[in-house]
Amino acid sequence: MMAEDWRRCAGKVTCRMEATITLPVEKQRMNIVIAGHVDHGKSTVVGRLLADTNTLPEGKLERIRETCAHNSKPFEYAFLIDALKDEQSQGVTIDSARVFFNTARRNYILIDAPGHIEFLKNMVTGASRAEAALLVIDAEEGVQENSRRHGYILSMLGIKQIAVLINKMDLVSYKQETFDSIVREYREFLANFDLKPLCCIPVSGMLGDNIAALSANMPWHNGKTVLEALDDFEKEEMPLKKPFRMPVQGVYKFTRFGDKRRLIVGTVQTGSIQVGDRVVFYPSGKKSRINSIEAFNRSPQSITQTGYATAFTLDEQLYITRGEIACKENEVTAKVTTRLRVNLFWLGREPMTRKKDYFLKVGTAKVPARIEQIIRVIDASDLSASNKKEKIERNDVAECILKLSRAIAFDLTEEIAETGRFVIVDNFEIRGGGIIREALADKQAWIRDKVLLRNYKWEKSIISQEQRAEKYNQKSTLILITGGKDTGKKILAKKLEARLFEDGKVVYFLGIGNVLYGVDADIKGKNNGRSEHIRRLAEVAHILLDAGLILIVTAVELTQEDLELIKTAVSPDRIETIWVGENVTTDIVYDFHVEKMENLDELVGKIKEELQNQGIIFRPW
Ligand code: GTP
Ligand code: MG
Repeated sequence: MMAEDWRRCAGKVTCRMEATITLPVEKQRMNIVIAGHVDHGKSTVVGRLLADTNTLPEGKLERIRETCAHNSKPFEYAFLIDALKDEQSQGVTIDSARVFFNTARRNYILIDAPGHIEFLKNMVTGASRAEAALLVIDAEEGVQENSRRHGYILSMLGIKQIAVLINKMDLVSYKQETFDSIVREYREFLANFDLKPLCCIPVSGMLGDNIAALSANMPWHNGKTVLEALDDFEKEEMPLKKPFRMPVQGVYKFTRFGDKRRLIVGTVQTGSIQVGDRVVFYPSGKKSRINSIEAFNRSPQSITQTGYATAFTLDEQLYITRGEIACKENEVTAKVTTRLRVNLFWLGREPMTRKKDYFLKVGTAKVPARIEQIIRVIDASDLSASNKKEKIERNDVAECILKLSRAIAFDLTEEIAETGRFVIVDNFEIRGGGIIREALADKQAWIRDKVLLRNYKWEKSIISQEQRAEKYNQKSTLILITGGKDTGKKILAKKLEARLFEDGKVVYFLGIGNVLYGVDADIKGKNNGRSEHIRRLAEVAHILLDAGLILIVTAVELTQEDLELIKTAVSPDRIETIWVGENVTTDIVYDFHVEKMENLDELVGKIKEELQNQGIIFRPW
């Protein structure tokens, strides 16, 4: 098939390209979150919507009414949501948080959140990424703390379309003044952060006023019903025209005998890519060409795009790991650094502090992160700000600088939201999340630029890293032995080299002096030469690791900053650090500590065992 027009999502997005396209045309789908203060009637509104649009399974409403009557309990529309939960196990596509609901225009997923913490968590994980929100406010209680907090967080997450429902109008005798005054107050609040509701509707979830049909009880309301407001939300354009981004979820080997290809797997977040396009992976900067796009249970495609789970093979076999982001060579590429200015909100019971390491997750990347600076903390329920706080309390929102233990690839939220949002994980739980506002310079930036160019220009061998690893029975690794002067580092390094050599490993010992007087001869003795020495050492290491070697390097008193420079040039998962000597005199975070050099043979044996445990040296078959 030659050039053709193709359409997706009811004609919203049109693209012209040379390709064979077999992507299905789908009915529009939209995720809507129902937010608002506790007990303001969110579930009731959702239940009523289902009931009034005949979305419920046959007889459901009656059965729940009967059960309520039987138990002498007043009937609640909110029970519909709970009742539907039971059906989940029988294959009905409804659960406690997500309700499926269709109109002629589109299919909706209504995310009804029970409590605000849960609600925030849903938003953060993006498990049910909302594109629009219904914000419910009780007419009798008026604007409450969480009405404001939810409004603020919705805007922070980039949800621009909201409809405000002033609920329980029956309790205020359907008075227009009450409606007007709450709407005025809430609009003023939202205006603080430039959020403008698309509409405000007076409703009674319980009695069905203005939910699916306009109510005779409020003739003064000449606006929309809730149902109309939903269909009036505009579908965000599929981010097809944005640059291509696919966070790498995993890299898999073909299992067929002799097939050396690797499948790079992920879900396309934005843009599209075709067979033959050049891709660059970040943060590594490695480049190749798309050889084929494989599809699950379908014939191979020549193109893939936003929203599709995708697997592709490359022309050359690169060593790529989970967490990298695939970009297209001729488009704006992802940013790479270790320092980020972010806006985040915190949900953890314990406050978020500067003293602790957390994990930051962007796309498929997960890296240790720390707060470097708290710029200001905002109370989202009244927007008061403080720039003196040392920690971020539960439910607070903060602007801060995060320092990551290694570089990641990402985008700024305002440019590409899909790869510009993050979550913070602590103790295996999501405790916070936010948006990336700025990529800040870090101390490794100058090396990173060189490394990106080096990787980009790298002339690749036809022998892959995995082939070398298989042949040599080892994973090429840099073993850095550091510590104070005269602690026996070199003796240990040479002994370890000899032992591994005896075992048939491809191993090489490199004292720092071996580099200093050769590769570094032109900069030796120069001021500020240290980081350039480190860079060159790392580059030499990178070459030898690429050759499949286990490289043992000794250096006096390496600091964490030195290590971070080395990690910029050598993949961090290929570095093992050993500190020798009782006193640890630098801030380096090492993997192995040799306190005493007593029984060298035993010590070398222990290190060897550790290397085996780490999967660096494989036991022979
Ligand atoms: P959480 O999920 O706990 O945050 O509450 P919610 O916002 O989902 O509130 P829910 O729908 O459970 O309603 C709370 C109470 O308000 C229930 O007793 C409802 O019957 C009552 N209620 C909800 N809507 C209306 C209404 O329009 N009029 C009146 N009179 N009561 C209502
Ligand atoms: Mg509820």
